[in-house]
Parts: sequence; C-alpha cells; structure tokens
Amino acid sequence: MARKTANPATLAMLQRVPLFAGLREKEVRSIQTMGREVDFAAGTNITSEGEQGVAFFLILDGRATVLVGGKVKRQLGPGDFVGEIALLDGGPRSATVRCETPVRGLALVSWTFRPLLLESPEVTYKILVEVCRRLRAADRESSA
Ligand code: CMP
Repeated sequence: MARKTANPATLAMLQRVPLFAGLREKEVRSIQTMGREVDFAAGTNITSEGEQGVAFFLILDGRATVLVGGKVKRQLGPGDFVGEIALLDGGPRSATVRCETPVRGLALVSWTFRPLLLESPEVTYKILVEVCRRLRAADRESSA
C-alpha cells in the first residue's frame, strides 16, 4: 500500500543514494515530496514485461531480480532504480522486476519523473549512464 513520504529516515537514505548524490538537500526533499513510498511483498512484481507503466522506482530496501523473457538478467538492491525505459519512450515495460524479499521503494509517476529530468541535469545524466551500462551488458550477453 502506498503512503505519502515525510519520513526523515527516508530523506537521509535518499541523500546517500548515488542517483541523488550532488543534489542539494532542498532538491532531495522536493524529490521525496513528489514521490510515494511503496511497499511490495516478496514474490510480487514491481514491473511486468509487456505491460504499460506509469512509474519509476528507486529501491530503498530489499532485493529484486530483473527478468526478460523469463531469463534472469540482473539482481538489484538498495540504491538501484527501475522503470525509466517505459517512462522515457512511452513503450511497454521491457522487463519484469520481481521482488525476492519485501521491497520498499520510492515511486515517481511519469508526470513528476519527466519534470525531474528536465530540472535536474545531474539526475538525468546518471540515469543515462546507467541505461548505457545496461545496454552494453545486454549487448555483451547477446554476442557471447
Ligand atoms: P522499464 O522497461 O520501464 O521496466 C522494466 C525495467 O527493468 C526497465 O525499465 C529497466 O529499469 C529495468 N531493466 C530492463 N532491462 C534491464 C537489464 N538488462 N538490466 C537491468 N535492468 C533492466
């Protein structure tokens, strides 16, 4: 169940996340206010491959697995993010992200995620770098 965030522990956690490193406290507070803390039970999906999605998720706690076509691609944990692809290109989810443990995340819906990208070049740049890293890893895997 989603709840509005105003949690000081979450703010401290967000300030330690590499994605938001370098942002001023005011900016991190604003991201926290724009987002919602969401709890997922173990075994549930944060995203489902092929479905439409409206949110970007930053994992605050717990572990999840990325699956494409049922094949495991990557394990994710605190500080990792998912959901940027469908929000950037408007297409369906490119992967299923399944919770291996209970997962707590910060969800940003598309109509707050897009303004964040335009307003915070540092965040946009880090997301791009991670997307490039994932693309290279996928290319390496497909040519192996
Ligand atoms: P999106 O397509 O919106 O929803 C599924 C998410 O899984 C995707 O965004 C990425 O955040 C993530 N994802 C997809 N493929 C990979 C991969 N190969 N490695 C890590 N994360 C991935």
